[in-house]
Amino acid sequence: MRKKIVAGNWKMNKNLVDTKSLLEELKSKIGDDTTAEIIVAPTFVNLSTASESLQTSKIKVAAQNMHQEDSGAYTGEISADMLKNIDVDTVILGHSERRAYFGETDELLSKKVNAALKHEMSIIFCFGEELQDRRNDNHFTVVENQLKNGLFHVDTSSWKNIVLAYEPVWAIGTGETASPEQAQEMHAFIRKTIAGAFGQDVADNVTILYGGSVKPNNAKEIFSKEDVDGGLIGGASLDSESFSAIAAAI
Ligand code: 13P
Repeated sequence: MRKKIVAGNWKMNKNLVDTKSLLEELKSKIGDDTTAEIIVAPTFVNLSTASESLQTSKIKVAAQNMHQEDSGAYTGEISADMLKNIDVDTVILGHSERRAYFGETDELLSKKVNAALKHEMSIIFCFGEELQDRRNDNHFTVVENQLKNGLFHVDTSSWKNIVLAYEPVWAIGTGETASPEQAQEMHAFIRKTIAGAFGQDVADNVTILYGGSVKPNNAKEIFSKEDVDGGLIGGASLDSESFSAIAAAI
């Protein structure tokens, strides 16, 4: 059976002091009895603190990005080895903000995927269409290409380390969420695409998260859809009240 996951992408928010207090609040609000996997992704500088603080908690830590090389002259970058060394073994790759503002292409992302798999890290791989793609009825093709170009070179056995996160760009931080039906339609398409390339077993077992303006008041309905296995949460993950309510909705 595939895993249910609620992950919080903190993006460039929360300094060290705020990180510590949000983590304390989350530890007290999200009990160890949660059946879903709960993940938080603070900024690079606070990952070590988060990793230590959550050592005895069921909440896991993820990085928001990483470089594709193991080490070297790449000023400002962070490698898989550095993350693993502080007990961070999950990484978000391909977020639309990385693609749009930092020029990350499918080709680059396929290299980052390889690096993460080489270091036996788990990947939350993000993708999703822009508003214009949906208006042009091109959204399925865009999503299919992002999956094929970024991920489809991996071995079938690697899929146990991959979680998908469908995040339509028009729904991120806009307050406009995909309807539960739109999310389900796309998630079913994604699963069918994975089944076509890697077989039904891989498709049935891959966790597919929805991201884009998930809030406590819409989480339950979105999560109730058959092919939606949880969420990747931005804004609402920055507040312990709302993130724990979304975690409870799974
Ligand atoms: P919001 O929940 O703020 O729309 O952000 C979603 C997101 O980008 C998560 O990675």
